[in-house]
Amino acid sequence: MADGMPDGDPGPVVLALRDVSKSFGAIAALRGAQLELRGGEAHALVGENGAGKSTLVKILAGVHGPDEGTVLLDGQPVTLDSPAAARAQGIAVIYQEPTLFPDLSVAENIFMGRQPLTSGRRIDRPELAARCTALFERLGVHMDPDRPARGLSIADQQMVEIAKALSFDARVLVMDEPTAALSGVEVERLFTVARALRSHGAAVLFISHRFDEVFDLCDRITVMRDGQWVSTDATGDLTVEQVVRRMVGRDVADLFPKQDVVAGDVVLEVRGLTRRGVFTDVSFDVRAGEIVALAGLVGAGRSEVVRAVFGVDIYDAGSVTLHGRPLKPGNPAAAMAAGLALVPEDRRQQGLVMELSVERNATLTRRWKLARMGWLSARTERATAAEWSKKLQVKAGRLSDPVSTLSGGNQQKVVLAKWLSTDPTLLIVDEPTRGIDVGTKAEVHRLLSQLAADGMAVVMVSSELPEVLGMADRVLVMHEGRLVDDIPRARADEDTVMLAATGQAR
Ligand SMILES: Nc1ncnc2c1ncn2[C@@H]1O[C@H](COP(=O)(O)OP(=O)(O)OP(=O)(O)O)[C@@H](O)[C@H]1O
Ligand SMILES: [Mg+2]
Repeated sequence: MADGMPDGDPGPVVLALRDVSKSFGAIAALRGAQLELRGGEAHALVGENGAGKSTLVKILAGVHGPDEGTVLLDGQPVTLDSPAAARAQGIAVIYQEPTLFPDLSVAENIFMGRQPLTSGRRIDRPELAARCTALFERLGVHMDPDRPARGLSIADQQMVEIAKALSFDARVLVMDEPTAALSGVEVERLFTVARALRSHGAAVLFISHRFDEVFDLCDRITVMRDGQWVSTDATGDLTVEQVVRRMVGRDVADLFPKQDVVAGDVVLEVRGLTRRGVFTDVSFDVRAGEIVALAGLVGAGRSEVVRAVFGVDIYDAGSVTLHGRPLKPGNPAAAMAAGLALVPEDRRQQGLVMELSVERNATLTRRWKLARMGWLSARTERATAAEWSKKLQVKAGRLSDPVSTLSGGNQQKVVLAKWLSTDPTLLIVDEPTRGIDVGTKAEVHRLLSQLAADGMAVVMVSSELPEVLGMADRVLVMHEGRLVDDIPRARADEDTVMLAATGQAR
């Protein structure tokens, strides 16, 4: 529901984009795009992967200059030729991918270039920590301001980005998929902050592929397609189906096309897996043809368990067996050779080599596998990359372009392609559709379901309950590092999973 839609007169237009175009080489990312933000409104910007949303955000942030068109602040044309210029105008931006400096502390990241100084012109550390803590309190976050950013979970990195944006007196707060890595509680906190800013007259621009959030937070919705403006309407005048149709240009019939399968032999056996302080005594089986979801709140230990199974992290006790053979701990190469694949949660750090081409990235893991048998010719590489790019509807200029030039969602698809092309017998996917648009989401689900029907075993970590319920044959629920429930598809519903995830099961 659209709550808080200003009654009567809407607020004045604070920020507007008129006929903005932006190309990168041959790719026209924006073609005459329009946007209008009013004070006191939360405004959603939605569109498929590659529609131009982040490019538009980067123009507002002073990262890119438009090729054509104007940016108006309070009706006056402005030039936002640097991030500092945009900030000086009161435009705060939270980017799709956190951009923290790993070796700086959390507080230094937040107040970079604006640290409070002592009378001796030194950085005033106690004051810095105090300001940081005050921001975290507003967000309901507990984090040590002095710890380095390195090693923070994505959710925590995102919280630091949000704190950074809030540390300015923002008139316009832009959030490019801020919630992709957050759990329900954290999203609620962020929305509370956004609503408070809105009630003080700020304009909030919110980008998300999660429609429940868009409809919950936003007063108006602008739809973009292929770099162009499609429509702007009050949220109350729209249905999800209408928004999807305008985004994709067609109806998306079945979001969760789960096929019924008969589970085969046990592929994976995990017994008593323990990592002190992280997860305890985790045991489960996965059979061929099964899709097993690992559900739970952020921080419950789901990603940590699958990382240990794959061998990226070590564990203190327990065993992992694949096809009846024990799998060496802490050895991802051995896991891959045995037929295991892991699509990691943090794609930017663990999934992609940003400066390499799309086709190289898509075939990196396969290259490794094939390299042992011979070599992978440029032609084979190209053919494989082309095949998977098509299956996953990757939108890229050329497959030889660096993967850094793709939109966020399209980068996610390349990571999926990279692992699916290894043809694993057990596929572990951590947040398989994070950042992926509604049309492609259905495609990814169809693909996973098909692979399982063909006998692949799938373990899926997902924070999206509809995805878990729609796709899983069984739902394993984790709470504070322990496996607390194993729910078969027939019994899995929202309440059962949430009760278990919050530690209230049985
Ligand atoms: N630096 C760049 N160099 C080349 N092409 C780029 C660059 N940045 C963006 N593009 C291209 O511009 C188009 C729009 O990308 P953009 O990131 O704005 O999409 P988006 O709507 O944010 O998508 P998503 O939902 O996946 O985040 C894409 O085709 C993308 O490949
Ligand atoms: Mg984007």
